[in-house]
Amino acid sequence: MSQPIIIANWKMNLSWQAALDLSLAFKNNLSDIKDKEIVICPSDVSLVAVQNIIKETNLKFGAQNVFWQSSGAYTGETSPAILKEIGCRYAIVGHSERREHLKETNLMINKKINSCLENDLTPILCVGETKDQRHNGQTDNILYHQLKECLNGTDMVGDEQMVIAYEPLWAIGSGQRARAEEVERVLELLQQILIDIYPLTIVKNNVRMVYGGSVNEDDLADLAGLKLLAGFLVGGASLEADKFKAIVQSL
Ligand code: PGA
Repeated sequence: MSQPIIIANWKMNLSWQAALDLSLAFKNNLSDIKDKEIVICPSDVSLVAVQNIIKETNLKFGAQNVFWQSSGAYTGETSPAILKEIGCRYAIVGHSERREHLKETNLMINKKINSCLENDLTPILCVGETKDQRHNGQTDNILYHQLKECLNGTDMVGDEQMVIAYEPLWAIGSGQRARAEEVERVLELLQQILIDIYPLTIVKNNVRMVYGGSVNEDDLADLAGLKLLAGFLVGGASLEADKFKAIVQSL
């Protein structure tokens, strides 16, 4: 049984110095937690400096994005091979903010997942529906297509790992978290779709599902109690070490 995983997505919220200060606070407050995986995702420019601060702890770090080629003439992109080289273990792929602002498509995300797996990085694939899609009863259909298209032809072999983050867009940064019953229903659906794509043993042992969207330290008991939920992807509340620690301890 894999460990719960709690991912801190700092987005582009922190200056370089603030990212270092927060890494130090994470190191001081969270490195005694050994039974859960804690992954910090700072912006690319602070990755190495953050890594230097947390390197002798159990804390791990990941990138907020990755490109689908390992090297070449791709100005401005981040190579999965270089991420691996600096000790990065995870990469968030397909975050809705990138889908929206950078026009990332399921096809691009699919290539990124493949490049992560080839380069020994665990992809954290984000999926989720918009407010309108939810109101129009399209949630299941949207999630089905996102998962099927993003994972099309991605083979998972050996001990390769994947994290699927259910992040309803209407919940991200809105203060309105999805209800536990809703999350449970979606996780069951995602598991069914995953079983269609991968062997059951891979789904059970190598894929973890987490929830993201306005997760904070209050009243997490109902969500934390869900059988299929392996953790959280946390944005705003990951910018304070004590709040984030309370979230980690809720699982
Ligand atoms: P939030 O962000 O916790 O601030 O809602 C989550 C995310 O976008 O990953």
